[in-house]
Amino acid sequence: MTTESRLQELESLRAAALAELDAAPDADVVEAWRVAYLGRSGKLTQALRSLSDMPIDDRKAVGAAANRIKQALEEGMEARRSALQSAVVGGLAADQIDITLPGRPVDLGRYHPNTIILRKILDIFVSMGFQVVEGPEVEWDRYNFNMLNIPQDHPARDMFDTFWVDWRDDKGDMPMLMRTHTSPMQARIMEQTEPPIRVVVPGKVFRYEATDATHESQFFQIEGLAVDKNVTFANLKHTLYEFARRMFGDTRKVRFRCDYFPFVEPGVDMSIDCFACDGRGDDDCRICRGAAWIEILGAGMVHPNVLRGVGYDPDVYTGFAFGMGLERIAMLKYGIDDIRLFYGNDLRFLKQF
Ligand code: FA5
Repeated sequence: MTTESRLQELESLRAAALAELDAAPDADVVEAWRVAYLGRSGKLTQALRSLSDMPIDDRKAVGAAANRIKQALEEGMEARRSALQSAVVGGLAADQIDITLPGRPVDLGRYHPNTIILRKILDIFVSMGFQVVEGPEVEWDRYNFNMLNIPQDHPARDMFDTFWVDWRDDKGDMPMLMRTHTSPMQARIMEQTEPPIRVVVPGKVFRYEATDATHESQFFQIEGLAVDKNVTFANLKHTLYEFARRMFGDTRKVRFRCDYFPFVEPGVDMSIDCFACDGRGDDDCRICRGAAWIEILGAGMVHPNVLRGVGYDPDVYTGFAFGMGLERIAMLKYGIDDIRLFYGNDLRFLKQF
């Protein structure tokens, strides 16, 4: 083939390619066109490859022409691509979507007051070196009661009536229940770990309870447990004072009174003075209803029987534990006077936090 006819062939390749490109209706067709002409086995690529068979003088002229055509095709392809792209955007703007319409407002959710208060409580304890641990809501009778020094016939079981699950283990002697408190995690953690222990355990608990303004049958507790050598009641008081100070402010007073829980000795309950009537105990105070104090938790030194039950020597190790009701703390913090509001799913209530 002469140089002349090769140049003509290249010229008709260029004309055909550009005509096809002009007619390409979308980006997919442009891509197929690219493969057909400029791809590895494309027509122009092959024409360039066949230059090696030509005498050196012809090769120069035909090579230069082929390179010019390659550049023209590449430029044509880019131009076609951007023309198609602007047509798409223009089409959207002009015909299909009115991009000037204001967007539809998205309804944003917000945190439940329980979540806000739980995070605050956990932050306080984590900053004091406690770890956060969670445990099962369906619990063996053994952990909920027996290992907490509450044997089968103990009257304290009456305080914690609950929902029973129709399931027994292999031996048939360990009924299951919905846990009545987060305290079973005390036994579970001590069974699996050696002291020192410092944990807080948030979680849901269940009781067979007539509901009223301060009682629910499902609610949240936060358990605390610290076990080590030389842990004393003073450590318990300091930890809970510090918690109350950071949760309710410097001006609130704290009161400890004796209380009974079979798994601690001595046992206490802790109250703060009512912030609504400033601890005066006004008869018409909607928060304390004249009591001046509001109980927030039960606590005490871990009973030696509980320590023995998990294999700890009570002459070597001592510990303190506490359990507080999350909703009660949230009620105090926000001045909410009915616990049932937390689970009523009333947006007018939930949107206030
Ligand atoms: C207990 O559940 C003990 N496990 C707490 C404890 C842990 C004591 C470790 C000693 C050592 P009590 O039943 O009092 O104790 O419940 C603890 C807290 O849960 C109460 O102070 C209260 O804040 C909350 N609470 C109790 N019953 C209800 C209820 N029905 N509805 C909402 N909150 C409740």
